[in-house]
Amino acid sequence: MTGSPIGVGLLGLGNVGGGVAEYLHKHGDSGGLRLVGAAVKDLSKPRDTSVPYVTDDAYRVIRDPDVQILVELVGGEQALEYHMEAIEKGKSLVTANKLVIARYAPQIFEAARRKGVDVGFEASVGGGIPIVQTLREDLAGNKISVIRGIVNGTTNYILTRMGEGMKYEDALEIAQQKGFAETDPTSDVSGEDARYKLAILSSLAWNAWINPASISCEGIPEITPQDFDYAGDVGYTIKLLATARTHDGKLEVRVNPALIRGTSHPSGPHPLSGVRDEFNAIYLEGDLCGPQLYYGRGAGRYPTTSAVVADIRRLARNLRTDVRDDLPTLDGHVELVQNPVSGGYIRASLEHVPGTAAKVFDILGRHGINVMDSLQRRTFGYEDGDGKTVIPDIITIEPTNDSFVKEAMRELATCDGVHGKPVYLRIEE
Ligand code: HSE
Repeated sequence: MTGSPIGVGLLGLGNVGGGVAEYLHKHGDSGGLRLVGAAVKDLSKPRDTSVPYVTDDAYRVIRDPDVQILVELVGGEQALEYHMEAIEKGKSLVTANKLVIARYAPQIFEAARRKGVDVGFEASVGGGIPIVQTLREDLAGNKISVIRGIVNGTTNYILTRMGEGMKYEDALEIAQQKGFAETDPTSDVSGEDARYKLAILSSLAWNAWINPASISCEGIPEITPQDFDYAGDVGYTIKLLATARTHDGKLEVRVNPALIRGTSHPSGPHPLSGVRDEFNAIYLEGDLCGPQLYYGRGAGRYPTTSAVVADIRRLARNLRTDVRDDLPTLDGHVELVQNPVSGGYIRASLEHVPGTAAKVFDILGRHGINVMDSLQRRTFGYEDGDGKTVIPDIITIEPTNDSFVKEAMRELATCDGVHGKPVYLRIEE
């Protein structure tokens, strides 16, 4: 590599930051890159000694004149200030921060365009899967009609283990130990992490800013072994899906756990059903490219390092050749579907006395919900504290507007004879 190396500054030396520092130490020279220094929250933690300086002052790194590319890997909303300062100082920016990119992309891209700097955010979605640049560049000529993905490694790991009989809490703990989970795993299990990622993917695919707050979002903590048992009986498995698809000129965007066809289903498995552990997969359809499926490790130190390094190398090349990427304008207009229609099942624990089921069906009927099937899961029956027998019922319903289901669920939760909180799970074909 000719010319002086491009200076890289790191914010964060944790799981991924440590991986990036290791890469720069081992391979930086051959790529014409030099790690200048890093900022961390807690200076007392033991660190990789190959980093020339480590500080707890992020602004020292951002404003260091030797830093030409700032890599932000601290996460969280506060990083927006770091992004804006780096751009203001004319530095190229690389980030894995899906929250900040999803929420503030228009503001960040506008500032970057004004200052003539690059922003790389490959690591914000899909870990090691190169889906961001694919949408930004390779599929830019396509009209995308569907994106459907498994984009959260932690929940996919948990659901895979639960499908094998492990308890939710135990599976979450292992995912955390393996370094897949966010600092606060609520973001993973609530579906919020997937919501930010879907906001980024759909903003790129439709070149319009999709505010993550406008994406309906349901998480996995209410899923139980009863759901896996039922799903397995009818040839399905359960996955947390992020979906964006067009309907009559509008865009439906949502994150929710759902039953999808597994290997034993008579119609054959859904393309996403074999995605296990921390792996992610993104299925999409474009008018020119047709259907495509991207698959790989969606979380963890080295897969995410792979995405960060790809951005660093591209942005360094841009600096050397004095060109810049085209940042998405996000100025398209997309109308969102407000009340999507889907089919699924309601699981409600019913007191085993005459009349409980009748009350439940009355509520569903009054909310315009057409019942297809009802199955008592006797194996999961139990006695409550008052000696009453309670049996979970799985009630499969025809595709219905979400708002009707939500209203019915609210009423069911207070219905006499219904124990605990009823749960709605979609079935996706
Ligand atoms: N917590 C995220 C996940 C890490 O589990 O997918 C990658 O964004």
